[in-house]
Amino acid sequence: MTPTYRGTVSMRAMARNWKAAGQTIGLVPTMGALHRGHLALVQAARRGADRVIVSIFVNPKQFNNPEDLRKYPRTEGADAALLATVGVDAIYMPTPDEVYPPGFATSVSIGGVSLPLEGERRPGHFDGVATVVTKLFGMTLADRAWFGQKDWQQLAVIRRLVADLNLPTEVLAVETVRDADGLALSSRNARLLPQARSIAPALARNMALAVEALRAGHDPQAVLPVAIDAIIAAGFDSVEYLELRSADLLEPMAALDRPARLLCAAWLDGIRLIDNLPV
Ligand code: PAF
Repeated sequence: MTPTYRGTVSMRAMARNWKAAGQTIGLVPTMGALHRGHLALVQAARRGADRVIVSIFVNPKQFNNPEDLRKYPRTEGADAALLATVGVDAIYMPTPDEVYPPGFATSVSIGGVSLPLEGERRPGHFDGVATVVTKLFGMTLADRAWFGQKDWQQLAVIRRLVADLNLPTEVLAVETVRDADGLALSSRNARLLPQARSIAPALARNMALAVEALRAGHDPQAVLPVAIDAIIAAGFDSVEYLELRSADLLEPMAALDRPARLLCAAWLDGIRLIDNLPV
Protein backbone atom coordinates (compact mmCIF):
# COMPACT_ATOMS: atom_id res chain seq x y z
CA MET A 1 0.00 0.00 0.00
CA THR A 2 1.26 3.44 -0.90
CA PRO A 3 1.51 5.74 2.14
CA THR A 4 -1.36 8.25 1.97
CA TYR A 5 -1.21 11.66 3.63
CA ARG A 6 -4.27 13.76 4.32
CA GLY A 7 -2.67 16.47 6.42
CA THR A 8 -0.18 19.09 5.28
CA VAL A 9 1.92 18.77 8.44
CA SER A 10 2.54 15.05 7.94
CA MET A 11 3.07 15.45 4.17
CA ARG A 12 5.63 18.17 4.67
CA ALA A 13 7.39 16.27 7.45
CA MET A 14 7.87 13.36 5.04
CA ALA A 15 9.01 15.70 2.28
CA ARG A 16 11.50 17.36 4.64
CA ASN A 17 12.96 13.94 5.54
CA TRP A 18 13.49 13.18 1.86
CA LYS A 19 15.14 16.54 1.31
CA ALA A 20 17.37 16.04 4.35
CA ALA A 21 18.51 12.77 2.74
CA GLY A 22 19.44 14.75 -0.39
CA GLN A 23 16.55 13.40 -2.47
CA THR A 24 14.57 15.37 -5.05
CA ILE A 25 10.79 15.44 -4.95
CA GLY A 26 8.58 15.12 -8.02
CA LEU A 27 4.91 16.02 -7.85
CA VAL A 28 2.11 14.89 -10.15
CA PRO A 29 -0.91 17.05 -9.25
CA THR A 30 -4.24 15.41 -10.16
CA MET A 31 -7.92 15.56 -9.37
CA GLY A 32 -8.15 11.76 -9.30
CA ALA A 33 -10.17 9.56 -11.67
CA LEU A 34 -6.77 8.46 -12.85
CA HIS A 35 -6.18 7.00 -16.31
CA ARG A 36 -3.24 6.14 -18.57
CA GLY A 37 -2.59 9.84 -19.15
CA HIS A 38 -1.86 10.29 -15.45
CA LEU A 39 0.31 7.17 -15.43
CA ALA A 40 2.45 8.70 -18.20
CA LEU A 41 2.99 11.70 -15.89
CA VAL A 42 3.90 9.39 -13.00
CA GLN A 43 6.35 7.47 -15.17
CA ALA A 44 8.01 10.72 -16.27
CA ALA A 45 8.18 11.82 -12.64
CA ARG A 46 9.78 8.52 -11.62
CA ARG A 47 12.50 9.10 -14.22
CA GLY A 48 12.95 12.73 -13.20
CA ALA A 49 12.90 12.72 -9.39
CA ASP A 50 14.03 10.50 -6.51
CA ARG A 51 10.65 10.57 -4.77
CA VAL A 52 7.25 10.87 -6.39
CA ILE A 53 4.14 12.29 -4.76
CA VAL A 54 0.77 12.11 -6.54
CA SER A 55 -1.73 14.58 -5.16
CA ILE A 56 -5.42 13.83 -5.54
CA PHE A 57 -7.66 16.78 -4.80
CA VAL A 58 -10.86 17.77 -6.58
CA ASN A 59 -10.28 21.49 -6.29
CA PRO A 60 -13.63 23.28 -5.76
CA LYS A 61 -12.11 26.68 -6.59
CA GLN A 62 -11.45 25.77 -10.23
CA PHE A 63 -15.03 24.69 -11.01
CA ASN A 64 -17.14 27.59 -12.23
CA ASN A 65 -20.12 25.25 -12.53
CA PRO A 66 -21.36 23.58 -9.29
CA GLU A 67 -22.99 20.77 -11.29
CA ASP A 68 -19.66 19.94 -12.96
CA LEU A 69 -18.02 19.80 -9.51
CA ARG A 70 -20.76 17.54 -8.20
CA LYS A 71 -20.51 15.19 -11.18
CA TYR A 72 -16.71 15.07 -11.24
CA PRO A 73 -15.75 11.39 -10.84
CA ARG A 74 -14.32 10.43 -7.44
CA THR A 75 -12.62 7.05 -7.50
CA GLU A 76 -10.18 7.01 -4.57
CA GLY A 77 -9.95 3.23 -4.23
CA ALA A 78 -9.38 2.60 -7.93
CA ASP A 79 -6.87 5.47 -8.04
CA ALA A 80 -4.82 4.02 -5.18
CA ALA A 81 -4.90 0.57 -6.84
CA LEU A 82 -3.73 2.01 -10.15
CA LEU A 83 -0.91 3.94 -8.50
CA ALA A 84 0.20 0.78 -6.71
CA THR A 85 0.80 -0.81 -10.13
CA VAL A 86 3.35 1.86 -11.10
CA GLY A 87 4.76 2.58 -7.65
CA VAL A 88 4.82 6.05 -6.13
CA ASP A 89 6.24 7.12 -2.79
CA ALA A 90 3.22 8.96 -1.47
CA ILE A 91 -0.35 9.86 -2.26
CA TYR A 92 -1.32 13.27 -0.94
CA MET A 93 -5.08 13.46 -0.59
CA PRO A 94 -5.95 16.53 1.47
CA THR A 95 -9.52 17.40 2.47
CA PRO A 96 -11.08 20.65 1.20
CA ASP A 97 -10.79 22.08 4.75
CA GLU A 98 -7.09 21.25 4.84
CA VAL A 99 -6.51 23.14 1.60
CA TYR A 100 -8.98 25.95 2.27
CA PRO A 101 -9.36 26.30 6.04
CA PRO A 102 -11.94 28.72 7.46
CA GLY A 103 -10.74 32.24 6.83
CA PHE A 104 -8.83 31.36 3.68
CA ALA A 105 -8.73 34.60 1.70
CA THR A 106 -6.02 34.36 -0.94
CA SER A 107 -6.32 33.96 -4.68
CA VAL A 108 -3.53 33.73 -7.21
CA SER A 109 -4.66 35.47 -10.36
CA ILE A 110 -2.71 35.48 -13.59
CA GLY A 111 -3.30 37.78 -16.55
CA GLY A 112 -2.14 37.31 -20.16
CA VAL A 113 -2.26 33.62 -21.06
CA SER A 114 -5.11 32.87 -18.66
CA LEU A 115 -7.53 35.37 -20.24
CA PRO A 116 -8.61 33.95 -23.65
CA LEU A 117 -10.20 30.58 -24.56
CA GLU A 118 -10.89 28.65 -21.35
CA GLY A 119 -10.34 31.79 -19.27
CA GLU A 120 -13.04 33.64 -21.16
CA ARG A 121 -15.54 30.79 -20.97
CA ARG A 122 -14.82 29.57 -17.45
CA PRO A 123 -14.45 32.72 -15.30
CA GLY A 124 -12.31 32.09 -12.23
CA HIS A 125 -11.14 28.68 -13.43
CA PHE A 126 -7.47 29.55 -13.84
CA ASP A 127 -7.41 31.55 -10.59
CA GLY A 128 -8.54 28.34 -8.89
CA VAL A 129 -5.91 26.28 -10.70
CA ALA A 130 -3.11 28.77 -9.96
CA THR A 131 -4.12 29.04 -6.30
CA VAL A 132 -4.21 25.30 -5.69
CA VAL A 133 -1.04 24.59 -7.68
CA THR A 134 0.86 27.25 -5.70
CA LYS A 135 -0.39 25.62 -2.50
CA LEU A 136 0.40 22.07 -3.63
CA PHE A 137 3.96 23.09 -4.54
CA GLY A 138 4.37 24.52 -1.05
CA MET A 139 2.65 21.64 0.71
CA THR A 140 4.82 18.98 -0.96
CA LEU A 141 8.08 20.96 -1.30
CA ALA A 142 8.20 19.74 -4.90
CA ASP A 143 11.41 20.34 -6.86
CA ARG A 144 9.67 19.40 -10.11
CA ALA A 145 6.07 18.92 -11.18
CA TRP A 146 4.61 17.21 -14.23
CA PHE A 147 1.55 18.35 -16.19
CA GLY A 148 -0.14 17.01 -19.32
CA GLN A 149 -0.13 18.84 -22.64
CA LYS A 150 -3.81 17.87 -22.92
CA ASP A 151 -4.54 21.03 -20.90
CA TRP A 152 -2.24 23.21 -22.99
CA GLN A 153 -3.53 26.53 -21.69
CA GLN A 154 -3.29 25.32 -18.09
CA LEU A 155 0.33 24.42 -18.75
CA ALA A 156 1.00 27.90 -20.14
CA VAL A 157 -0.70 29.46 -17.10
CA ILE A 158 1.35 27.37 -14.67
CA ARG A 159 4.60 28.22 -16.47
CA ARG A 160 3.66 31.92 -16.19
CA LEU A 161 2.82 31.46 -12.49
CA VAL A 162 6.18 29.84 -11.72
CA ALA A 163 8.14 32.43 -13.68
CA ASP A 164 6.27 35.45 -12.29
CA LEU A 165 6.34 34.36 -8.64
CA ASN A 166 9.85 32.84 -8.81
CA LEU A 167 8.50 29.57 -7.46
CA PRO A 168 11.31 27.05 -6.99
CA THR A 169 9.42 24.21 -8.68
CA GLU A 170 10.39 23.26 -12.23
CA VAL A 171 7.41 22.61 -14.53
CA LEU A 172 7.67 19.73 -16.97
CA ALA A 173 5.18 18.61 -19.62
CA VAL A 174 4.17 15.24 -21.00
CA GLU A 175 2.47 14.66 -24.36
CA THR A 176 -1.24 13.91 -24.50
CA VAL A 177 -2.02 10.21 -24.24
CA ARG A 178 -4.68 9.07 -26.72
CA ASP A 179 -6.79 6.02 -27.29
CA ALA A 180 -6.04 4.08 -30.48
CA ASP A 181 -8.78 6.05 -32.31
CA GLY A 182 -7.17 9.37 -31.35
CA LEU A 183 -9.46 10.48 -28.51
CA ALA A 184 -7.39 12.25 -25.84
CA LEU A 185 -7.69 10.52 -22.47
CA SER A 186 -9.39 12.62 -19.84
CA SER A 187 -11.47 12.06 -16.75
CA ARG A 188 -14.39 13.85 -18.42
CA ASN A 189 -14.15 11.88 -21.67
CA ALA A 190 -14.48 8.73 -19.57
CA ARG A 191 -18.11 9.81 -18.90
CA LEU A 192 -19.11 9.51 -22.58
CA LEU A 193 -21.85 6.96 -23.26
CA PRO A 194 -21.11 4.40 -26.04
CA GLN A 195 -22.89 6.30 -28.84
CA ALA A 196 -21.14 9.58 -27.99
CA ARG A 197 -17.86 7.76 -27.44
CA SER A 198 -18.05 6.50 -31.03
CA ILE A 199 -18.45 10.10 -32.29
CA ALA A 200 -15.79 11.63 -30.02
CA PRO A 201 -12.66 10.74 -32.10
CA ALA A 202 -14.01 13.03 -34.85
CA LEU A 203 -12.69 15.95 -32.81
CA ALA A 204 -9.01 14.98 -32.93
CA ARG A 205 -9.40 13.60 -36.46
CA ASN A 206 -10.74 16.86 -37.88
CA MET A 207 -8.27 18.91 -35.88
CA ALA A 208 -5.45 16.82 -37.39
CA LEU A 209 -6.84 17.45 -40.90
CA ALA A 210 -6.93 21.17 -40.12
CA VAL A 211 -3.32 21.06 -38.91
CA GLU A 212 -2.30 19.39 -42.18
CA ALA A 213 -4.06 22.08 -44.21
CA LEU A 214 -2.49 24.88 -42.14
CA ARG A 215 0.96 23.37 -42.51
CA ALA A 216 0.36 23.13 -46.25
CA GLY A 217 -0.06 26.91 -46.23
CA HIS A 218 -3.84 27.26 -46.39
CA ASP A 219 -5.43 30.33 -44.83
CA PRO A 220 -6.62 29.72 -41.22
CA GLN A 221 -9.75 31.76 -41.96
CA ALA A 222 -10.71 29.18 -44.59
CA VAL A 223 -9.48 26.07 -42.77
CA LEU A 224 -11.05 26.57 -39.33
CA PRO A 225 -14.72 26.98 -40.40
CA VAL A 226 -14.42 23.83 -42.55
CA ALA A 227 -13.08 21.90 -39.54
CA ILE A 228 -15.88 23.24 -37.30
CA ASP A 229 -18.51 22.14 -39.85
CA ALA A 230 -16.93 18.69 -40.07
CA ILE A 231 -16.92 18.28 -36.26
CA ILE A 232 -20.63 19.22 -36.12
CA ALA A 233 -21.43 16.99 -39.11
CA ALA A 234 -19.77 14.10 -37.26
CA GLY A 235 -22.32 14.45 -34.45
CA PHE A 236 -20.97 17.04 -31.98
CA ASP A 237 -23.60 19.43 -30.59
CA SER A 238 -21.49 22.59 -30.81
CA VAL A 239 -17.95 23.91 -31.06
CA GLU A 240 -17.20 26.64 -28.50
CA TYR A 241 -13.92 27.55 -30.12
CA LEU A 242 -11.40 26.23 -32.59
CA GLU A 243 -8.51 28.63 -32.72
CA LEU A 244 -4.99 28.93 -33.97
CA ARG A 245 -2.87 30.52 -31.24
CA SER A 246 0.83 31.09 -30.65
CA ALA A 247 2.19 28.13 -28.71
CA ASP A 248 3.63 30.00 -25.72
CA LEU A 249 1.66 33.24 -25.24
CA LEU A 250 -1.58 31.96 -26.82
CA GLU A 251 -1.93 35.06 -28.96
CA PRO A 252 -4.34 34.90 -31.94
CA MET A 253 -2.55 34.15 -35.22
CA ALA A 254 -3.82 35.10 -38.65
CA ALA A 255 -0.94 33.29 -40.38
CA LEU A 256 1.45 30.52 -39.45
CA ASP A 257 4.45 32.71 -38.73
CA ARG A 258 5.67 31.20 -35.42
CA PRO A 259 5.23 27.98 -33.40
CA ALA A 260 1.49 27.49 -33.02
CA ARG A 261 -1.15 25.35 -31.40
CA LEU A 262 -4.63 24.53 -32.58
CA LEU A 263 -6.98 24.52 -29.58
CA CYS A 264 -10.57 23.39 -29.42
CA ALA A 265 -13.49 23.03 -27.00
CA ALA A 266 -16.62 21.25 -28.17
CA TRP A 267 -19.77 19.77 -26.66
CA LEU A 268 -20.89 16.20 -27.18
CA ASP A 269 -23.90 14.73 -25.39
CA GLY A 270 -23.67 17.19 -22.50
CA ILE A 271 -19.92 16.73 -22.03
CA ARG A 272 -17.38 19.42 -22.84
CA LEU A 273 -14.31 18.03 -24.58
CA ILE A 274 -11.11 20.00 -25.05
CA ASP A 275 -8.11 19.10 -27.17
CA ASN A 276 -5.11 20.73 -28.80
CA LEU A 277 -2.46 19.88 -31.37
CA PRO A 278 0.88 21.38 -32.38
CA VAL A 279 0.81 23.06 -35.78
O1 PAF B 1 -5.17 19.24 -14.39
C1 PAF B 1 -5.71 19.00 -13.30
O2 PAF B 1 -6.08 17.86 -12.99
C2 PAF B 1 -5.95 20.14 -12.30
O3 PAF B 1 -6.26 21.31 -12.95
C3 PAF B 1 -4.75 20.34 -11.34
C4 PAF B 1 -3.51 20.77 -12.09
C5 PAF B 1 -4.49 19.06 -10.58
C6 PAF B 1 -5.09 21.44 -10.33
O4 PAF B 1 -6.21 21.11 -9.57
